[in-house]
Amino acid sequence: MEGAVATAIEQVNVVRHPLVQHKLTLLRDKDRSTQGFRRLMNEIGMLLCYEVTRDLPLATITIETPLATMQAPILAGKKLVFAPILRAGEGFLEGMLTLVPSARVAHIGLYRDPKTLAAVEYYFKAPPDVAERLVIVLDPMLATANSAVAAVDRLKECGCREIRLVCLLAAPEGIAHFHGQHPDVPIWTAAVDSHLDEKGYIVPGLGDAGDRMFGTK
Ligand code: PRP
Ligand code: URA
Repeated sequence: MEGAVATAIEQVNVVRHPLVQHKLTLLRDKDRSTQGFRRLMNEIGMLLCYEVTRDLPLATITIETPLATMQAPILAGKKLVFAPILRAGEGFLEGMLTLVPSARVAHIGLYRDPKTLAAVEYYFKAPPDVAERLVIVLDPMLATANSAVAAVDRLKECGCREIRLVCLLAAPEGIAHFHGQHPDVPIWTAAVDSHLDEKGYIVPGLGDAGDRMFGTK
């Protein structure tokens, strides 16, 4: 098992940008207000969007500036779908759409059964052409990874072939489980934390992201 965890961690892109790390520390603080938590999620969402789109292909077009004609780069390749897993994934959505306003959105409603920690689906709505797009799944807390695995299963059933996963925090156990099921889906995360506790919470983590974001506890 230890070997499997180590291999999976090597496939993860940990975003060490100082702004991301600083904002993550503010977010983890148990005294952060609901309003502050939401604002930080939005800002980190934007910064992670920058990282997860870093290698998108470019084409060259001819444009005219006020001074000259030039060959200039423009995004090419597959169009994007952001797929937030409700509720916490919503926290990243606005920031991502600010940077890529033409992206479509696939909402994936899943909750963790508190006893079994299995993911239970309650909503799924994706654009009709989702299979032709690059899908970026947003799941800030990769704990057991049951939710992320179920979301990607569902997207693959819809024909999606190019999928990326953006998290905020990941547990080593979650990374190993996720890459065991979906080795073709790369992960971006701001941190890999120590472990899961007996209730499946990430330690040190930040608590329940959905509750902290919406003030429901
Ligand atoms: C949280 C979080 C993740 C999931 C991660 O959702 O938003 O989607 O847990 O845990 P996992 O990796 O063990 O599946 P939760 O079930 O608490 O729902 P909520 O976001 O609506 O509060
Ligand atoms: N979901 C959360 O919101 N936090 C955790 O630590 C684990 C799952």
